[in-house]
Amino acid sequence: MNYERAKTYLYQRGQEQLLEYYEELSESERKALLNQIENLNFSIIKNIEKNKTVKRGKIQPAGDAVSVQEIKRRRIQFETVGLNLLSENKVGAVLLAGGQGSRLGYSGPKGTFNMGLTKELSIFELQMNSIKKITEITGRHFPLFIMTSYTNNAETVKFFEERNYFGYPRDRIHFYIQDVAPTCNFDGKIYLDEKSRVSIAPNGNGGWYSSLINSGLGRVLDRNNIEWLNVYSVDNVLQKICDPAFIGATVIKQCRCGAKVVKKAGPDEKVGVLCSEDGKPTIIEYYEMPENLKNKTKKGELVYRYGVTLNYLFNVHDLNLTLGGKLPYHLAEKAIAHMENGVRVIPDKPCGYKFETLVVDMVKLMGSCLAYEVEREIEFAPVKNATGNDSVETARELLKHNGIEL
Ligand code: UTP
Repeated sequence: MNYERAKTYLYQRGQEQLLEYYEELSESERKALLNQIENLNFSIIKNIEKNKTVKRGKIQPAGDAVSVQEIKRRRIQFETVGLNLLSENKVGAVLLAGGQGSRLGYSGPKGTFNMGLTKELSIFELQMNSIKKITEITGRHFPLFIMTSYTNNAETVKFFEERNYFGYPRDRIHFYIQDVAPTCNFDGKIYLDEKSRVSIAPNGNGGWYSSLINSGLGRVLDRNNIEWLNVYSVDNVLQKICDPAFIGATVIKQCRCGAKVVKKAGPDEKVGVLCSEDGKPTIIEYYEMPENLKNKTKKGELVYRYGVTLNYLFNVHDLNLTLGGKLPYHLAEKAIAHMENGVRVIPDKPCGYKFETLVVDMVKLMGSCLAYEVEREIEFAPVKNATGNDSVETARELLKHNGIEL
């Protein structure tokens, strides 16, 4: 795209401010800026009003989860089916590590954070140890896809390289960078991060599958005939990855996806809640959950009681249903560094929007979802904050409780 074309193109979209400093740029900067403009997804901004008012259907409580008791009773049956699929190489895993982890206030990629006290024991290592437990049983190394962001990719890859991929075969690990979306002010004007660079941000954890496909890794899924993908967050240091019983239960119960859930610790716990929307499974994020539903109880128990732990199993075939702009964008109000009157400002309060798709929205598109209940003391230790709830401190306590030496 040349300058004249870009000018008209931006004018038609009300975004001509992106060329404000064009005259001041070097030849290579101009080229880079025009290239970035050409590849931007403007439709996100166009739909800003629509995205602000995502309409919900009729919300009801989710049906009963497969309970901890049922899982104990049927463990062998569930595990046999799951282990068979793993042994046949029909399952892969996806680690979501493209987030900014801003609440933790740690400068590196969150997975590199050291949970150890007397030795190095990073979040990545804890999760790779969980994977090893399964591969030791099956004797097969499933493909592991690691989604990073353009800001943390190099550091993440280096961390794995320097630790010899924690003993996992290098050719079974596939790093990929998640796609981005532009950021804008509250009036929908796209920000410049520098005079020669449009402000962009990772497009949310719902971008994991489209980014995987866009990166060309769909061929690994095809080549290996992968039927199921276990998607998990970098936050939870106690989670079981490719848990055979979870895989087996989802298949036996004939669901197209599964979600590991915990009974919510209280109405205000900051976890998404599994519900039913117009008769289909859906997840409502804690900040979008209406107060009256959040607090509703029956016989002393929360009616909306299943909190998701960000560990899902998706049927690969059905994931294609989530492509092609089917996922809604959520508008996150953030403090975004941007150019203002020729100077780069770093605001200390929200000044605009970042656009994020969420993995929770994929669940609804799957049509059926098995809620699989796990014991929080054994499988749920999220590291979101430095201190307080869901923090490094609480996660360390839970690791010790599970006999993990720190
Ligand atoms: P969070 O919702 O906790 O977001 O991510 P975050 O950006 O990591 O953390 P805060 O809110 O800034 O403190 C939940 C999971 O989704 C991944 C994260 O890496 C984490 O595993 N994620 C989030 C992505 O992979 N990409 C994103 O764009 C956002």
